[in-house]
Amino acid sequence: MNVSQPPPKNIVLIGFMGSGKSTVGRELHQRLGYSLVDMDQVIERRAGKSIAAIFAVEGEKAFRDMETELLEELMLEVLKEEDAPRRIISTGGGVIGCERNRELLRRLGYVVWLHAPLAVILDRTGRNRERPLLHTEDPVARVEALLALRKPLYAEAAHLQVDTAGLDACELATGILESARYFFSGHW
Ligand code: S3P
Repeated sequence: MNVSQPPPKNIVLIGFMGSGKSTVGRELHQRLGYSLVDMDQVIERRAGKSIAAIFAVEGEKAFRDMETELLEELMLEVLKEEDAPRRIISTGGGVIGCERNRELLRRLGYVVWLHAPLAVILDRTGRNRERPLLHTEDPVARVEALLALRKPLYAEAAHLQVDTAGLDACELATGILESARYFFSGHW
């Protein structure tokens, strides 16, 4: 796809762990009827194990490669089929770590960065032990450090930044859809 071609009408959700990507993804999926790709779930299904187990057995690098592979696959589908199915793509919080992924995300569709206040992230991520990056002595310090590293990368990848504070998934989906309509109308 060259730069003058319109982006496919996918909506891609990025943001830190606990920012609400999965919930908002489900809401958008219900409203639009687009299929939902929850990248973490696809990777777990394919690997036949949890993300925590992938990190423990194969290492973080292997997981990051799986993320890139999946984005490449989704991109290939878009390039192959003019009428590729439209999707809501909900990503893992670290997907923006490498430049190739950031580029793929933007070519895949309208990239929406959901950001939540630190207290909300800590509360949500503190409720379960599924996230291997937070299996540390001091998860709060780890969240703060990762957030500081990643904020500029989310900003670089995103077409739209959404402050989720005080809004529920329904309100967020309404705002995102409104904005996506403007975005896509400018490209068609
Ligand atoms: C990660 C976030 C997780 C998952 C993995 C790594 C990260 O997804 O992909 O544990 O690096 O921030 P969520 O953002 O859905 O929790």
